[in-house]
Amino acid sequence: MRNQYITIGFCLLALCSMVVASRVRAGQAAKYLGPCDLAASKDGKMLYIAFADAKQIAFVNIRSGKVTRSIATPAKPTGLTLSPDGRSLYITCASAESTILVIDAASGEVNAAITTGHTACGPVVTPDGKWLYVCNRFDNDVSVIDLKTNKEVTRVPAIREPLAAAVTPDGKSLLVVNHLPADRADTSDVAAVVTIIDTQSNATTTIRLPSGASGLRGICTSPDGKYAYVTHILARYELPTKQVEYGWMNANALSVIETREKKLLGTVLLDEMYLGAANPWAVACTTNGKWICVTHAGTNELSVIDATALLEKLLAMPVNPEPYQVGEVLYDDRNELLDYFRRLRATLRGKPEESGELYTLGSAAGVSNDFSFLAGLRRRIKLKGKGPRGIAVIGSKAYVAEYFSDTLGVVELESKSPSRVSGLALGPKPQLTNQRRGEMLFNNAELCFQHWQSCASCHPEARVDGLNWDLINDGIGNLKNTKSMLLAHKTPPAMSSGVRESAEMAVRTGLKHILFTDPPEEDAATIDTYLKSLEPVPSPYLVNGQLSPVAKRGKKLFFSEKVGCSKCHAGPLYTDMQMHDVGSKSPCDRRRDFDTPTLIEVWRTAPYFHDGRYTTVKELIIKSRCGKQRSNVELSEQQINDLVEFVLSQ
Ligand code: HEC
Ligand code: HEC
Repeated sequence: MRNQYITIGFCLLALCSMVVASRVRAGQAAKYLGPCDLAASKDGKMLYIAFADAKQIAFVNIRSGKVTRSIATPAKPTGLTLSPDGRSLYITCASAESTILVIDAASGEVNAAITTGHTACGPVVTPDGKWLYVCNRFDNDVSVIDLKTNKEVTRVPAIREPLAAAVTPDGKSLLVVNHLPADRADTSDVAAVVTIIDTQSNATTTIRLPSGASGLRGICTSPDGKYAYVTHILARYELPTKQVEYGWMNANALSVIETREKKLLGTVLLDEMYLGAANPWAVACTTNGKWICVTHAGTNELSVIDATALLEKLLAMPVNPEPYQVGEVLYDDRNELLDYFRRLRATLRGKPEESGELYTLGSAAGVSNDFSFLAGLRRRIKLKGKGPRGIAVIGSKAYVAEYFSDTLGVVELESKSPSRVSGLALGPKPQLTNQRRGEMLFNNAELCFQHWQSCASCHPEARVDGLNWDLINDGIGNLKNTKSMLLAHKTPPAMSSGVRESAEMAVRTGLKHILFTDPPEEDAATIDTYLKSLEPVPSPYLVNGQLSPVAKRGKKLFFSEKVGCSKCHAGPLYTDMQMHDVGSKSPCDRRRDFDTPTLIEVWRTAPYFHDGRYTTVKELIIKSRCGKQRSNVELSEQQINDLVEFVLSQ
């Protein structure tokens, strides 16, 4: 039996090393490394870094700063994590059918490859080392993998684009961030949620973040497991998009969740009154629980937050009249709980703090509007590299994957001196092509007045945030759902009301009227180059890359004379690039006709229509005139389902 395993293992290894050998050659040709995520070895001597562009995992010796080993991955690595014993490394390699590589953390050998869903990311191993959870971003679910057999045993549904996860130290709950809201966009409460999976039963509950919460990215739990921290954008989408200087467009936030109670304790702003801290990405705590670190992809910064002081201040907000429970302990009296935090803080600071002022400003609900909430509790540290993303903390040092500069940021958290920030080159200095420079500018909030937001705040990965905005380019009070940049340059005019004759023009007016900047024309042109380079992601509705039989039936209907979708959704991009009245005017709109949108990638751009009123394509076909161009055409339930399947397969 043992021999048999060894033989199988050997064959697998031989196969994998063949794959690896061929990929390394391809990898060497890659222009960029694109470090996006990292994990520290158990002894704190090594960092494992995922290079998204080079499709590699690098082992970096922290002392020497040298890459000691690199392993090719079969697809773009999106995340990695270590088993609790530090022996195995799990890497999510994203594609329509993702591969999870299981690698020996000491030797770098590939021990197994597990297949999961569409665009795997956010791997997490339970503290007992028995289960691996992986977010399947575009299947909207989470794979549960038994690490004894390296087999996926089930999938647990999430809500929309699960991106990252964290497990509580007792292993009982897995908290999953859903990147985007799943709501219709034309209401006053649109928010993304955190899904909590009970790891015993796989039952789920959700925690709704405050209205405007979108672009959720990172999550971690506090070392004692009582809290989880979630990074996200907090959009003031209901307000007209002016007065960015008051944080009245996109603010940037950290939400604090009480894991046991499964509820939101509060949402604090990471921005300051006159200086935004845009695009919060990853979050990590130091193992002593003292600091919460947040990377800001838009402003190239690291926020270092005093965890105890933050919790103490949040808990002091007058909200909860009921007895309060934290972990196993029930506090009858709120003051008792606050005392607990005061003591904790005093111990961490190494000196008893008697005074421990109580913070009584405002209420918990008001916190998400208070730009001074973190004053005195947080340091903002400028990093040397560009595009900070994943973060790993070892002792009192934070290591940051700096995506655009191919560097590793190193920050000494206990030092107040800015000189304790360094950058380590992970490869040769990248020579940026126009396309790469455009991508960097699109993600750069330093372009924006007071650094509040980047283009990517509303267009994450150059797609959509699921929200409506009042961009004022077509009058005030008529909000429009954010459009994807995919194919924008090939399908003029731009904007759903066609007010910009081309995407080029929309890019330039976006820079001017949304970021309040006027960069040189070369910069705007690089953004065009980047946006034109976007490729559609294969639909999760395809089966082995092909239309399913249901979608094939739908295709016939779509192109039929009788149903007639292709009259307007014509040609390979499914748009005639004309304005049509499909009865979608809302009372606020100034016009009846709207630009016919492309249907490519429509599976990921909900909600639908210019005002985001439909959450599903099925609802759109049933309720809108898109599905009823002629009064004499009645579609059966099956025909509707067939059409939906076809549309979502694009
Ligand atoms: C505050 C949110 C927000 C920000 C920030 C933002 N956009 Fe947009 N963008 C939108 C919305 C909403 C639309 C759709 C408007 C409409 O249909 O009238 C849009 C549409 C576009 C379009 C037209 C797409 C098409 O196919 O019609 C382009 C191009 C565009 N944006 C580029 C950019 C660029 C470049 C930036 C950064 C300079 C940017 N946007 C920043 C919200 C935003
Ligand atoms: C007369 C032209 C016309 C016909 C015929 C038509 N559509 Fe549309 N379609 C439009 C227009 C215009 C919009 C945008 C409406 C808006 O934004 O308010 C649209 C929007 C859509 C959207 C939403 C896309 C998005 O990104 O929000 C889908 C999905 C869609 N149509 C599918 C269909 C299907 C399926 C059919 C056939 C049953 C169909 N359409 C027939 C013109 C048409």
